[in-house]
Amino acid sequence: MLADHTAADVIDRIDYDLARLRRYSQPWGGQFVVTLRAKKLDVWTAAFLARHPDAVVLHLGCGLDSRVFRLDVPAGVDWYDVDVPEVMVGRRKLYEEQPRYRMIGSSVTDPGWLEEIPADRPVLVVAEGLLPYLVEADVRGLLQRITDRFARGGELLFDGVPRWTPTVTRFFRSGIGDGSELEAWNPRLRVVDRVSALQEWATIPLRPQRVAFRVFAALPLSRDYVRLFRYEIRAA
Ligand SMILES: C[S@@+](CC[C@H](N)C(=O)[O-])C[C@H]1O[C@@H](n2cnc3c(N)ncnc32)[C@H](O)[C@@H]1O
Repeated sequence: MLADHTAADVIDRIDYDLARLRRYSQPWGGQFVVTLRAKKLDVWTAAFLARHPDAVVLHLGCGLDSRVFRLDVPAGVDWYDVDVPEVMVGRRKLYEEQPRYRMIGSSVTDPGWLEEIPADRPVLVVAEGLLPYLVEADVRGLLQRITDRFARGGELLFDGVPRWTPTVTRFFRSGIGDGSELEAWNPRLRVVDRVSALQEWATIPLRPQRVAFRVFAALPLSRDYVRLFRYEIRAA
């Protein structure tokens, strides 16, 4: 679904018992949630970069994701993958920096790393599977530092879970409502898209999983559990 040959190559190089992941490929498993999520963020990323081939990309909480290699990134784009230092140690064993691709080992809540990034270009911020792990004050601070730094504006893409999730699961520390709360925090942000991560369930190539996700996408609780948000970052 992602046409991600880099990820396939990386998986071949990792000594990991992939049989452990088998249960995730069951119809009720989570792999298609993250695949559909990644695909939609790929589509939004590619569309932004087509409009702004001189952009700076901040790919926050990148983990081992290979988005920079699976997309056809315009030659004028500078791409920064950011994750905590211990994750970056692992990532650097699998991927190499290039002149316009850099990896930064830092918490996104640390203000220092942003100072390394050129600020005079449109910015695309992609935070996939990250913001629910941060407390709300850290999300607000991060977004404020980003909008303060990039006067030309750009876009912000991320996934969010409902506001009630931190009260019922220890994994998540913050949730999001209809997205307008970010606009209230920060007038430079304007929500332009808000969709269920399951929206494109019909693209799942395996029939049992496709049927299961058709049902999940019809039920409000599962449909709205992971939503994808796209914000315009207004120019200052
Ligand atoms: C669920 S994984 C998502 C990884 C990747 N974005 C993906 O979708 O495959 C969450 C990632 O966020 C990173 N992360 C969590 N807190 C972070 C922080 N404060 N600063 C930077 N990265 C963080 C974790 O190390 C992990 O790699």
